[in-house]
Amino acid sequence: MIKILFVCLGNICRSPMAEFVMKDMAQKQGLEEEVYIESAATSSEEIGNGMHSGTIAKLTEMKIPFTNRKARQLTKDDYENFDYILGMENKNLHAIRKIVGQDSERKISRLLDFSQTPRDIADPWYTGNFDVTYQDIVEGCKSFLQWIKERTNG
Ligand code: 4NP
Repeated sequence: MIKILFVCLGNICRSPMAEFVMKDMAQKQGLEEEVYIESAATSSEEIGNGMHSGTIAKLTEMKIPFTNRKARQLTKDDYENFDYILGMENKNLHAIRKIVGQDSERKISRLLDFSQTPRDIADPWYTGNFDVTYQDIVEGCKSFLQWIKERTNG
């Protein structure tokens, strides 16, 4: 079982979108028993709040199942409990390290570091563009799953 935690600033736009996109992808590839997926925020700003309406609209448009969830903040314990902590942008990675401490087991990466073109995923809270966010997240999740498969197969 591989445990993956997606992290963004508020845990209402990008990281829950990544959580449900990855759950859907894993389910479609028959890997739902192989992965455990959650998401969390670096900031305390949105704790307890549901997903942003833009994220809900995009997941609905793409027919990706999701459940009601509440934003939660990343904790130091998450570092022990998860195998991969996947942030959305370099700023996230700094904030993640501030909370969990040194990344001695090299668990922390940007989601798009697994793609052919490593880069940040822009924050739709500021850009208002949930379509680009979705495309980036799909690219990141696909690349990450591929990387995991190559790693576990040999
Ligand atoms: P997210 O977007 O990190 O993708 O969930 C944001 C959500 C809320 C805030 C910032 C970014 N905020 O400042 O409350």
